[in-house]
Amino acid sequence: MATRKLSDKLRHIDAALDGKSEVSTASPSALHLSDLRFLPMTLPEVDLDAVDTSLVFLGKTISAPVMVSPMTGGLKQAGDLNRMMAAAAEVVGIPFGVGSQRVALEVPDRAKDFQVRDVAPTIPLFANLGAIQLVKGYGPDDAWRAVEMIEADALYLHLNAMQEVVQEGGDTNWTGVLQAIEKVCTEFSARKGCPVFVREVGFGIAADEARRLLDAGVDGFDCAGVGGTSWTLVEGRVAEGRQAQTLGQTFSAWGLTTAESILEVRRAATDLPLVSSGGIRTGLDVAKCVALGATVAGMASPVLRAATEGEDAVVAFLRTVIAEIRATLFGVGAPDLSAFQKNSRLMRPERRH
Ligand SMILES: Cc1cc2nc3c(=O)[nH]c(=O)nc-3n(C[C@H](O)[C@H](O)[C@H](O)COP(=O)(O)O)c2cc1C
Repeated sequence: MATRKLSDKLRHIDAALDGKSEVSTASPSALHLSDLRFLPMTLPEVDLDAVDTSLVFLGKTISAPVMVSPMTGGLKQAGDLNRMMAAAAEVVGIPFGVGSQRVALEVPDRAKDFQVRDVAPTIPLFANLGAIQLVKGYGPDDAWRAVEMIEADALYLHLNAMQEVVQEGGDTNWTGVLQAIEKVCTEFSARKGCPVFVREVGFGIAADEARRLLDAGVDGFDCAGVGGTSWTLVEGRVAEGRQAQTLGQTFSAWGLTTAESILEVRRAATDLPLVSSGGIRTGLDVAKCVALGATVAGMASPVLRAATEGEDAVVAFLRTVIAEIRATLFGVGAPDLSAFQKNSRLMRPERRH
């Protein structure tokens, strides 16, 4: 996300965490995670304690199909928060993504805000850069620097076009972004060893766009959709001008829901790793995403909220989420994730998708 003054960033974090920036789409025909249920098994015939939620992701074994999504790292406090959240992710054994590293590419001294490998030595880490920056002077070498800076296992290029529209002074010329992403993918694949994921920040990715990104060479997606933090709403709420405030309201539920976004991306990319995020609040939500086709589900604002209470609170929160994932697998009689993926007993409303 775009670089801002410290005071602006604090306002963004406040607005993202106060509970008033969450939306679900107003359309009754949309598919929400809350529309989905599992057909229960009265006789699960499995031992809850033996249920295995682990999987291999980015070449590393993680304890459950959930991760901490990227959040801002461009200010001192967020640097401390990054370290705390990454350390908690390491304790429970799940991936962690840092927020946009643009500030650290510009001011090398700020790299330390993102360097969490010492507290998170074994988990997959995602580097992060706004895709729009790739048409504003940044190129594959800068993206590679972001990866090396934090010893990341993968790169997230984030897409946030509608957020930039509402943000006062946002980057709104998106001409050439796809081509620039392709350049990064080509260069990264020549250098080998670091997959490029493209991620939304909460508006969803449609199947036709996923196909274009696949053709551009991306290695994975995070299809963050509507249902959680709305970045148009956040930008509208922190805006000073009336027009941006109104645009933020008008477009507060712009896009595909998270459930729809998973189905759309899976139409185009059947085999690539797919993170789903946007409004994931419980382990039951995570399980629904996996049942729809996601590899891993990401959580942002609930983790940041817990982080304001300290590392133990983040660990406790994440442990509860994993307990909820395990309970869901148990409740449908699945001893492990692959059994769950084969037969999740997910019930979908018939009239949609
Ligand atoms: C305070 C905050 C800062 C964020 N900064 C970034 C960022 O720098 N890069 C990015 O890709 N996503 C960023 N996000 C978006 C999240 O990763 C996520 O996609 C979005 O908030 C939806 O998830 P949620 O409903 O669980 O909050 C940020 C989210 C929050 C709450």
